[in-house]
Amino acid sequence: MSSTTMKSANAVAHEAAARLMYRCGVLAQCTDQPGEILRTFLSPAMDEVHRVMRPWMEAAGMKVSVDRAGNLRGLYGDENAPRLLIGSHLDTVPNAGAYDGVLGVLMGLALAEVSVERKYPFAIEVLGFSDEEGTRFGAPFLGSRAAVGELHGSLVECVDAAGISVAQALMQFAEQRPETVEARLSARGAAYLEFHIEQGPVLESKNLALGIVEGLAGQSRCTVELHGIAGHAGTNPMRLRKDALAGAAEWMTGVETITKRFENAVATVGQITAEPGGVNVIPGIVRCSLDVRHAEDSVRIALVQAIFDEARAVASRRGLKADTKQYHEQPAVRLDASLVALAEQVAGQAGYSTIRVMSGAGHDAMVIAPHVPSAMVFLRNPGGISHHPDESVAEDDVAAAIHTGMCFLDEFAAHLERENRA
Ligand code: GLV
Ligand code: MN
Ligand code: MN
Repeated sequence: MSSTTMKSANAVAHEAAARLMYRCGVLAQCTDQPGEILRTFLSPAMDEVHRVMRPWMEAAGMKVSVDRAGNLRGLYGDENAPRLLIGSHLDTVPNAGAYDGVLGVLMGLALAEVSVERKYPFAIEVLGFSDEEGTRFGAPFLGSRAAVGELHGSLVECVDAAGISVAQALMQFAEQRPETVEARLSARGAAYLEFHIEQGPVLESKNLALGIVEGLAGQSRCTVELHGIAGHAGTNPMRLRKDALAGAAEWMTGVETITKRFENAVATVGQITAEPGGVNVIPGIVRCSLDVRHAEDSVRIALVQAIFDEARAVASRRGLKADTKQYHEQPAVRLDASLVALAEQVAGQAGYSTIRVMSGAGHDAMVIAPHVPSAMVFLRNPGGISHHPDESVAEDDVAAAIHTGMCFLDEFAAHLERENRA
């Protein structure tokens, strides 16, 4: 690219970045919970996001649809051409920030918009996945799993707080929305590209706008229940109690101690409920969630086992009963080496130094990658704050990502040709 074209690409990227930031603010108003950002699988707020995004996508020349798993899809270009898939998720954690997921979907739209003057021999399909966080059903990636034909088995038996299963929610959605289309990705998908805020402090600490993701840590989601005996808080001497919550507290400090012995592993107990839940009643049953992650699957599996063993050991010392269950597992993935190299190369072309990073967070790319060659680009995340209303990203860094994405589009056709020849 000549320096004049570079300059104008840069200016185009900055304009597109300002639009993208504005749109993140608009979508942040779509929520299931007034006063905070919350959007869950197939919820009214997800529907609202689709209604807001549709005209933006149509104005960019896209054919827009919603599929049977609630994923928003926009096709820009010839439907018979190979497709570059660009996307991320539109759902959120409770009390979320405005950029996790949404930014990657809007990046796809922005890149289609800035491509109007260019003729590429591939189409761009923008994907706004309906569930990556697992907020409603505890099990993550429901949207991308449906897109790769993996939404079945025990996953569709998971139930939400109202006792509705994934299968029932999908059936109800299909009845209410007969216009929805097949969720499976087209076989024309040639590559998947996801932009996402880093959700951590590494890029900021190195003063870099962008990072190139090489792989993503695997994760296990589990439940641990401790069963004791509920009883009167005033009449039962301490030595005669079978207090499930006191047992859970001991187990949780064990989770911390054990996990620190496994280098680079993380384990989180994020939800806990105690029954019957009276201030003057000894807790009889405690249910805890458990999220365990590591870049090596064998280490993660060994850690889950050690944490389960700890629950049984605590239970046996205290006369409780422990039930442990892993209900979801996502293996670690390496992203496509040649696409990773391409992402690194085009970031350089756009004028940005990058480093390669591993992601501890889960992303839709880890579900798509075994099916479609995939790459991810991280954007610096001030303070590393994410899954929090203070989550942010700098407009200049969004411009850096858009400029990099524009160079990616320019190089992608040649990349496809090289891959087809190899
Ligand atoms: C999603 O953000 C996750 O990593 O759990
Ligand atoms: Mn998230
Ligand atoms: Mn995310």
